[in-house]
Amino acid sequence: MSTQANDDVIAPVSAERSPASAAPSAAAPNADRAVSGRTRTFDNPRLRKDFADQGAFLYMEDFLAPEVTAQLAHSARSLLDEVNRNYLPGHKQGGSVSRHTIDRLAPFIAELYRSKELIGWLEQLSGDKLQLSPADDPHAYALYYYTRPGDHIGWHYDTSYYDGRRYTLLLGVIDESSCRLDYELHTRNPDVPDQPGSVQIPPGGLVFFDGDKLRHRITPAGANEMRVSLTFEYVTDPNMRPWRRFISNMKDAIAYFGFRQVFRQMTARGKDRS
Ligand SMILES: [Fe+2]
Repeated sequence: MSTQANDDVIAPVSAERSPASAAPSAAAPNADRAVSGRTRTFDNPRLRKDFADQGAFLYMEDFLAPEVTAQLAHSARSLLDEVNRNYLPGHKQGGSVSRHTIDRLAPFIAELYRSKELIGWLEQLSGDKLQLSPADDPHAYALYYYTRPGDHIGWHYDTSYYDGRRYTLLLGVIDESSCRLDYELHTRNPDVPDQPGSVQIPPGGLVFFDGDKLRHRITPAGANEMRVSLTFEYVTDPNMRPWRRFISNMKDAIAYFGFRQVFRQMTARGKDRS
């Protein structure tokens, strides 16, 4: 089977666009304060038990503070011109904006990703010490766009190419769609029967899971629909063996962000070392 990355367009770096252009008129919220304002109201021991009972998976329909959701939705709309479209027949169709673009144009998202309050809460849920993904990983934080009929992603795991575990945090940003996150729990645990589920993630909703354990997909968007989700990736060991790095980069280049975005980082890294 041949894979192709149609519409693999990299928007040119625009000198006129500044982070300010992606920000709403009011100042961006303080990420730590906004997160702790929510997490301290939760029944956290109960959530931790739910996460463990569901084989390292949790869904909450109302997680983010409303001002954070509003900020993310504003950023998602303002970054529409930066979306990189990809198409892999039978597996994936949609758009994405990588961390590198987010760093330039939506720094609040990067701040939220690094929020100590957020990471601490996720550590408490997972029972793992979490680390940020390395600077050259375009999945560390990224926006995914489902804006054309048929945009979807087929069944997959968020496989860890790292030496340790890879956790995915999905945050609902915009949902004017019929897309659903379908999933199957316990597929990698022979002692527990597979348990299917399906959720539609509203803006402000959260899904958190161990990428190697949750089989999942996003169902196809219909006509005139729009869905944007924000994904954060955290790891327990950021080391990656070179051949796995190569496979991971190829996958990212073909399926998500385009060769220039992915390999520009590698080239920059190589130059730094020489
Ligand atoms: Fe995924």
